[in-house]
Amino acid sequence: MRVLSGIQPTGRFHWGNYFGAIRQYIDLQDEDEAYYFIANLHALTTIRDSEELARNTFDAALDLLALGLDPERAILFVQSDVPEVSELTWLLMTGAPMGLLERCHAYKEKKAKGVASDLGLFTYPVLMAADILAYDSDVVPVGQDQVQHIEVCRDLAGSFNHQFGEVFVMPKAKVLEASAKVTGTDGEKMSKSYNNTIEIFENAKAMRKQVMRITTDSRPMEEPKDPEECQLYQLYSLFAEETDRLEMAAKYRAGGFGYGEIKKTIANAAESYFCEANEKRADLAAHPDRIREILADGAKRARGKAREVLERAQDACGIKR
Ligand code: ADP
Ligand code: TRP
Repeated sequence: MRVLSGIQPTGRFHWGNYFGAIRQYIDLQDEDEAYYFIANLHALTTIRDSEELARNTFDAALDLLALGLDPERAILFVQSDVPEVSELTWLLMTGAPMGLLERCHAYKEKKAKGVASDLGLFTYPVLMAADILAYDSDVVPVGQDQVQHIEVCRDLAGSFNHQFGEVFVMPKAKVLEASAKVTGTDGEKMSKSYNNTIEIFENAKAMRKQVMRITTDSRPMEEPKDPEECQLYQLYSLFAEETDRLEMAAKYRAGGFGYGEIKKTIANAAESYFCEANEKRADLAAHPDRIREILADGAKRARGKAREVLERAQDACGIKR
């Protein structure tokens, strides 16, 4: 089985990115082959500052490696280092129905808000489909919001195969239900775009401050509460061991606790959860050449596979005969 996923370097990674996506990448890296890349071409649809994009791309590599992505077990690379993917995008674009892309949420939401959009945003799902198909990927671990894009990828692959023969492998999305939607400090989905994130590599003091900002209801302390209905409990569950989680649930049911106390427990749990990754990140940051080597090696391996798939697709549709 071949696993593949990409993550955009559009800012510092947050808890939602970790529990919704990155943790799965790490859990799946022992599959036959795992490909993970930093989607800088996709990020170009939002970041228009060259320094920022280059810095974020490098930082994303540092973050992923610090969180446990192991270049001995997975292939880590930068999207733009595999130009074959951009060529494949064109082949897929020629058969991509406008209506299908008009229904995709990133474009649709911008359009609904009256924000000007461009062809990059409109064709974003086609580039994403090429990313997936270029490596004969079977499984794509992502958060819930990316499932629609994987459906588009399957549609495009299906119609290409129908017209030109069995060229592409049909991929499947893999969503971890338990953490498909991590909530942010305002109770909505945690997202950079909503300004409600808690960053993984935030310094301890700032992280605590963010946790203390999480909105809660105004029910009295003594009232017993249903843990499943509380976003603080959901967040705590992401970090806690089973016994601690059950203890916390019992506390909710008994009542007589304050939300401030729960927030402190969450901050402590998060700090110890990411403590090792923080240390590892500092160590990696001191060796930037090593990171560049890892990415160059990853790109070389990824290109080998992408070239093979691109040639298969070109051959099938009458190019390069
Ligand atoms: P953001 O919404 O902050 O811009 P991205 O869209 O770059 O995050 O998401 C990167 C990955 O993290 C995707 O696979 C996405 O599904 C996952 N992800 C992002 N936010 C969350 C969240 N709040 N809960 C679960 N997964 C998330
Ligand atoms: N669009 C994805 C996101 O915003 C990133 C991405 C680009 C991706 N190409 C991909 C994810 C291919 C999975 C597979 O999170």
